[in-house]
Amino acid sequence: MNVTKSLIIGWLFTGLLSCHSASQLDIRTEVDSRVVELMSKMTLKEKVGQMTQLTIGSMSNKKVKRHFGLPITLDTAKVRRYIVEYGIGSVLNTGRFAHTKEQWNELIGYFQKLALEDTKNGIPILYGIDAIHGTNYTVGATLYPQQVGLAATWNPSLVEELAELTAYETRASGIPWTFSPVLDLGIDPRWPRIWEGFGEDPYLTAQMGLAMQSGFQGDDISDSSRVAACIKHFIGYSNPRSGKDRTPAWIPERMMRELFIPPFKEAINQGATSIMINSGEVNGIPVHANYDILTKLLKKELNFSGLVVTDWYDIYNLVERHHVAVDRKEATKMAINAGIDMAMVPNDIEFADCLTALVNEGEVPMSRIDDAVRKILKLKFDLGLFDSPLTDFKNYPDFGSDKHIAKAKEGALESIVLLKNDNDILPLSKRQKVLVCGPNSDNMRVLNGGWSYTWQGQMTDQFAKEKLTILEAIQGKVGHDNVLFEKGVAYSKGKYWKDEIVDMKALESAAMNVDVVVACIGENTYTEKQGDLDDLVLSVNQKELVKLLSTTGKPIVLVINEGRPRIIRDEVKLSDAVIDVLLPGNEGGEALADILYGDANPSGKLPFTYPSYTNDLIPYFYKYSEASPHADGSEYNDPFIKSQWPFGFGLSYTKFKYSNLKIDKEEYGANDVISVSVDVENIGDRGGKEVVQLYSSDLVASVTPSVKRLRKFEKLYLNEGESKTVFFELPIKDLAFVDRNYQKLIEKGDFKITVADQSTSFNVSETLVVEKLQDWRL
Ligand code: BGC
Repeated sequence: MNVTKSLIIGWLFTGLLSCHSASQLDIRTEVDSRVVELMSKMTLKEKVGQMTQLTIGSMSNKKVKRHFGLPITLDTAKVRRYIVEYGIGSVLNTGRFAHTKEQWNELIGYFQKLALEDTKNGIPILYGIDAIHGTNYTVGATLYPQQVGLAATWNPSLVEELAELTAYETRASGIPWTFSPVLDLGIDPRWPRIWEGFGEDPYLTAQMGLAMQSGFQGDDISDSSRVAACIKHFIGYSNPRSGKDRTPAWIPERMMRELFIPPFKEAINQGATSIMINSGEVNGIPVHANYDILTKLLKKELNFSGLVVTDWYDIYNLVERHHVAVDRKEATKMAINAGIDMAMVPNDIEFADCLTALVNEGEVPMSRIDDAVRKILKLKFDLGLFDSPLTDFKNYPDFGSDKHIAKAKEGALESIVLLKNDNDILPLSKRQKVLVCGPNSDNMRVLNGGWSYTWQGQMTDQFAKEKLTILEAIQGKVGHDNVLFEKGVAYSKGKYWKDEIVDMKALESAAMNVDVVVACIGENTYTEKQGDLDDLVLSVNQKELVKLLSTTGKPIVLVINEGRPRIIRDEVKLSDAVIDVLLPGNEGGEALADILYGDANPSGKLPFTYPSYTNDLIPYFYKYSEASPHADGSEYNDPFIKSQWPFGFGLSYTKFKYSNLKIDKEEYGANDVISVSVDVENIGDRGGKEVVQLYSSDLVASVTPSVKRLRKFEKLYLNEGESKTVFFELPIKDLAFVDRNYQKLIEKGDFKITVADQSTSFNVSETLVVEKLQDWRL
């Protein structure tokens, strides 16, 4: 099967909307009228087709011999049926594993040719992919840290640059739409998708989300090096009561408004073009069937006018997992009437048949279909797909380039968090003999995590062969002669991540022959439900490994490579230094080696509270009562929050001193802005980056306040001996909380601002409702 190359080449960049010369308003008008005109020519079946998204796997058939030499065998009869007969609007996913950019080009070119040439209205396919830490489903693309690592950089401009790089490489693969970023709050480490988000804090998540979205979308998504982002998973996905993926969440409206909604709200205000819905249920109602959430909250209150897409199989899940619909037809009615615009069906065409029947029977109003299709077509026009349906990899010389790799390394370097460094054991000397061991020491898979070349990330070592594991990077840095490697016995069989008995004798004798041990432990890769855990504590054999190493008396540098904070209390005690590399991506091995040997100074900070015990899984914005002794002070004197390391924590090889925290007044009105300044000085003997974090505390309020909340931050570089004054402008309105009536309220009273060890107090003199009560309840 050959694609008519000449036709595709003809499409390339011909007649891209001349948006650079036109004003935004003109473009909007032009797009709107093109949408209206096109819709006037469409039948119901064609409209419903646009609302249907299928996975590429649904068009495969191993028994049919028509293929493109792709990692998937396409059944061209099925492709024609879905694209030509049904006119589906969108295709997603990669099949079994990553394609090369040439294969993507051929594949998407083939889809577009069918959609444009063989259908009545010639509407291009909107191809979507999870390009979440680089274009992770394209061979040779630049892979950088997962979102949890990006959050640990506390560097939004770096995150924006990395997302821009992904947009470029995704378009180089012919794909204009990515299902990223995740804006769910990682407030419970038991949940397996913590690593896909920006940590536990709403403000940090919002800032990073804005940076990532802006890197993807730029000012104009018709630009052939930008893509449409898809913020996800709206809403309340990350907080299931059981800690397990896609299980029920119970989230009071106040908590929803105070914590979960703000990052989405910010991204919507910035211009989010699409949004994906939470697969789970909140307070007994599956979100895909919740009109209040999808229409009243999302479309009316938050004013979201982009495309609302389901998550995988989630209309059918209303029948099969949630039991709120008797059959797929009823499920389709519920979801579309609730506000869904496009169904990630993803395996068959039954959704389209159900929806057409429902409209004909008057169960779904035509106005709802038109509303959905308008949004889908608008996104396609905005992306320039009608004029340029296929971007060509040949026009993307920077794909996988050294320039991009250098940026990914910068990301990895800034994402690594130094958590313990007793007696300044780090940086190591390049002359020391080192033993490298543990299950995560010689493996690219674990550095990248899931969504890497495959969904579960199990083939990364094959795809990223030329990239350096931790072991290889250390060998490269200090020479093979200085590095002893013990596979850590049978790690390759994956035993170390499970509670299986592992023979460790060889390790003990190896440790006796070196000056220092680098023990690399943590997690294997997992994505979504596959990452559900029964125990947050590390596997017994990894605990045994560290214990055994400690009996040798050699200093231990513990490297933790994980997607969420696993309990490592005992191992931390036995180690001299601890470094959390999180999931740093393909450049992570080299970045870690640079940090271990002092060629780079660590600057990552935890984007979550690192728990010490499994029963202390509480984010840093806990309430005063959670950290107070018993009422009369006599019975329990232990503080109740026992974290291993606090949110925002991370060491450097230099030290920073804070002084002169100042605000401009002692009393503020509700509409005022506080001008804050603080001096930061590098008092160590090498240059380094520091994250200046500003927290506020509401001392007394009518709804119990958090002990503190992050309100501003700035990352800056200071040479040794250098000092700088950092300024923040903090609107009093940012201190508002969700009150008893679910309104956002500034309440008069006393507040405190804290930056590192500095703090100062002020008074707010008036009470003001900043956001009014809405007409729906959760
Ligand atoms: C995940 C989404 C993802 C989608 C498409 C789902 O299983 O929950 O985050 O975007 O698959 O791959």
